Amino acid sequence: MEAPPFTALAEVYDAIMADVEYVDWAAFILRLASERGWRGGRLLDLGCGTGNGTAPMVARGLEVVGFDASEAMLAVARRKLPEVRFRCGDFRELRVPGRFTLAYSVFDALNNLLEPEGFAATARRVHRQLRPGGLFIFDMNTTVGLRDLWEGGCVEGWAQEVYYRWVHSYDEASGLARVEAFCETEEGSFTEVHYERPYDPPELRALLSAAGFEAIEALTYPRGCEAPADAARVWMVARRPST
Ligand SMILES: C[S@@+](CC[C@H](N)C(=O)[O-])C[C@H]1O[C@@H](n2cnc3c(N)ncnc32)[C@H](O)[C@@H]1O
Repeated sequence: MEAPPFTALAEVYDAIMADVEYVDWAAFILRLASERGWRGGRLLDLGCGTGNGTAPMVARGLEVVGFDASEAMLAVARRKLPEVRFRCGDFRELRVPGRFTLAYSVFDALNNLLEPEGFAATARRVHRQLRPGGLFIFDMNTTVGLRDLWEGGCVEGWAQEVYYRWVHSYDEASGLARVEAFCETEEGSFTEVHYERPYDPPELRALLSAAGFEAIEALTYPRGCEAPADAARVWMVARRPST
């Protein structure tokens, strides 16, 4: 059975991602933010999915709102974190009550924006949701990353009772990476096809700047140094101007 992206996957997502370093990513985001003068306030987790990047922030006593386009992923998040407010919607039409001092996004969520216009619209929406001086921090797979990591790659294995086989490819003509994610459980099997578009720092700088952000940086994880030109993955930091 072929399922739409982030639908059937929702119930097995956490088993497959059990070893992902969400706690360390959260600490990294907060370290970057603190080093740039962040002193607390409300957080917005963009593309929160099942809440794996939300939970470590909540565990630190922070108030987080989660935002995601998939009701199925959000249903899992709400089960795990009943005290957190989750909102369903598209990044490009982001609109949630209140404003935030830090908006963040982890694990390629913004690579799901397949056109630069979609990223531009998202950046404008995030800018509007931030308080003056607020920060926007997110990870991104670059062209090098999606070519090297995804072209011809296959990951296969067992995650608890879930067998998974994910086949990756990169199409030079469209510039899009594709993953065909097959999963099988006792209840049956499904395949979801996901696409990601790479974004490189020069393009991100231009798009973020056009949306009104300043102090834009492209950094490495976990050191937080300036990313080299051939980085496979970057962490972007941008600030909504204080005035
Ligand atoms: C790879 S998952 C990452 C989820 C979570 N951040 C994590 O690290 O586990 C990407 C998430 O982005 C969401 N997403 C993709 N495109 C979106 C869009 N246009 N608007 C809002 N959410 C989107 C998906 O529904 C999915 O939950």
